[in-house]
Amino acid sequence: MKVGLIAALIGSTAALNVWRPQVLQLDVQNDVLDLHKQLVEIPSISNNETAVAEFLVKELERRNYNVLVQNVTQDGTSQNIIAFKGHNYHTKVLLTSHFDTVPPYWPYRREGDYIYGRGSVDAKSCVAAQICAFDELVKNGEINEETDLALLFVVGEEVEGTGMKYANEHLEYKDWDAVIFGEPTESKLGVGHKGYAVAELKAHGVAAHSGYPELGVSATEILIGALHEILSTKLPESDLLGPSTVNIGKISGGVAANVIPSEAHATVTFRIASDPGSIKSLLDKIVQSNDRLEITNEVYIVDPQYLDYEVDGFDTIVLAYSTDIPNLSGEFSRYLYGPGSIHVAHSDNEYVRAHELIESVDGYKRLVLHSLKH
Ligand SMILES: *[C@@H]1O[C@H](CO)[C@@H](O)[C@H](O)[C@H]1NC(C)=O
Ligand SMILES: *[C@@H]1O[C@H](CO)[C@@H](O)[C@H](O)[C@H]1NC(C)=O
Ligand SMILES: *[C@@H]1O[C@H](CO)[C@@H](O)[C@H](O)[C@H]1NC(C)=O
Repeated sequence: MKVGLIAALIGSTAALNVWRPQVLQLDVQNDVLDLHKQLVEIPSISNNETAVAEFLVKELERRNYNVLVQNVTQDGTSQNIIAFKGHNYHTKVLLTSHFDTVPPYWPYRREGDYIYGRGSVDAKSCVAAQICAFDELVKNGEINEETDLALLFVVGEEVEGTGMKYANEHLEYKDWDAVIFGEPTESKLGVGHKGYAVAELKAHGVAAHSGYPELGVSATEILIGALHEILSTKLPESDLLGPSTVNIGKISGGVAANVIPSEAHATVTFRIASDPGSIKSLLDKIVQSNDRLEITNEVYIVDPQYLDYEVDGFDTIVLAYSTDIPNLSGEFSRYLYGPGSIHVAHSDNEYVRAHELIESVDGYKRLVLHSLKH
């Protein structure tokens, strides 16, 4: 954003041709703020997004887009929205984000530069800014509106990516040159995000009176041994994403102080910076070393994502959260960008700064133009 600011300051002389007249800018500012307000005012908790889907269809049609609706669930509660200006979404670049939110709903509230409300940053800010960016690019004649750009807004991102998985399976075209994903990145370009693995470990023991431990087998001791091995193993690192980390998020076992425990469980989550196969091998090795240990779920591994991030004028950021990016398969370049911070995203005081929301319209425009040139 620094580049934009400097150019705006010198806009009255040298950069006159590059920067839009102030009046138009104000129009755009109000447009993105209004659109964002309307989106946040309608609840759209995952699996119940229809009200926002209906709003988006009307709003996009009002803005002269052609709109396709994908029923993600058969009960009519979740719809993906695809929008374009030409005959279809077989374009060079795709802008995409999600409009479902985590619960509970928090209403829209503005205090100066701060805009609060559920989804205000994650990710209705991105949805609003992407639509306004497309409109601006068309209005200024900066793209071929029919062949350059399309929009995809999905549901279910906060619950296993159901909307993007559905889109991935059912879209008949995914040959975009670039896909620009919208999630809060503090208006920087994400260089990637860590992958993910969850394993539920279970140890089987033999119950006995604690005074006679030789008559039983302690499940908690077996589990603690396995967890210790996980914690003392050096996990894979990457230059880009840093170290992999592990969290033993849940642990339980035993029934009473004077009983040798016959069962113990732990749920272990890894954030994987590289080499997801080594995490799987580590878990396999631990389970194979003791037949009283098992993994009770199918270990669910999401590979780390490495993104495109070298674009003039953008700072970069490493992210620790998961996105829909792994669920849209294809040969395109991938960018991840959006206003505001993930740190407030799921909190009770989720917010986005108004100026950052406004500036992100320009951020998306520049990313689209960059993608069209490369
Ligand atoms: C779905 O969301 C609407 C608001 O958009 C709400 O009125 C309704 O109660 C919700 N339905 C369920 C099943 O939570
Ligand atoms: C989506 O589902 C609704 C009912 O749940 C139905 O009325 C509508 O025709 C379906 N649309 C498509 C495109 O399948
Ligand atoms: C979607 O992502 C999930 C994890 O979020 C992964 O398990 C699954 O394989 C992905 N699906 C596709 C079609 O890429």
